[in-house]
Amino acid sequence: MITVITVIFALLALVTVYFLIVTRFSIMLQELLGSDRKSEHIYWLYSNRFLIWLTDRQVVISAILLFNYNRLVRDVVGRLNPELDGKDVLQISCAFGDLTEKVVRKCVTEGARKIVILDLIASEITHTRSKLEDLSLGERCIFVREDAVNLSHTDESFDYVVIFFLFHELPLSKKVTVLKEAARVLKPGGKIVFGEFHRPRPLLLRLSGRLFFSVFEKYAEEMWGAFNPETVLDGETPFGWVMSVKTYFFGNYQVFSAEKLGPGEAYRVEGFINGG
Ligand SMILES: C[S@@+](CC[C@H](N)C(=O)[O-])C[C@H]1O[C@@H](n2cnc3c(N)ncnc32)[C@H](O)[C@@H]1O
Repeated sequence: MITVITVIFALLALVTVYFLIVTRFSIMLQELLGSDRKSEHIYWLYSNRFLIWLTDRQVVISAILLFNYNRLVRDVVGRLNPELDGKDVLQISCAFGDLTEKVVRKCVTEGARKIVILDLIASEITHTRSKLEDLSLGERCIFVREDAVNLSHTDESFDYVVIFFLFHELPLSKKVTVLKEAARVLKPGGKIVFGEFHRPRPLLLRLSGRLFFSVFEKYAEEMWGAFNPETVLDGETPFGWVMSVKTYFFGNYQVFSAEKLGPGEAYRVEGFINGG
């Protein structure tokens, strides 16, 4: 029994050290070497294809979200309704886990017209593309390397914008800009859907979350209140939004969606659902 516990702790320690090296340490080293980074969080983990391949295991990705990954993804994908037939879908940032695959599969099954998947880092795009090889995507799936704070797409060009665990990595001003960009490229009647961290209710989770963020994700705590998507979106259309938030795992995670209303539609805000 003691051997099993020792092995488990040794494995956990090994994984923690690995993540420290490929994320936090890599940033510190880049800063020390004065390298010209476009963004705050271009970890080795995101730019090195071998590290992406090594890390992108479903069990690892699920464990990072305390095994809530599947239900968060299910909720995000489920909110891509009504049907995607003839619709244009944008996913902002890609790479780990099977979210992109599930979004793209739904797009293909339901006959979406265009799927654009973008990321800041070329290796992430290459990796994601390789995971979609068995789907015959043809011309309708486009991969773009660009910064989410400055999208090249024209106003009102997408019916759905999906964002999964990107905001927490960005400083507050960029969180706001990315959400505004998503709102800008969204058609009236379209929907923004994102999965993210949220302020947990139990003190113990808040304390451990704070510790985790202080080591790995220095901008993530802004998801607990400083970044308020409702306030950000409010000014982005004169016609209002239908917003809905569902929280998971004692409030630790959220899936948020905001449907952009068109002229003549009544302003509504849907309820807050405490999903657990
Ligand atoms: C934690 S992952 C996000 C999870 C990802 N959405 C998924 O489904 O697996 C962070 C990703 O965001 C990308 N990224 C970070 N900053 C970005 C930016 N400003 N614009 C576009 N992509 C960005 C990184 O390259 C990386 O692939």
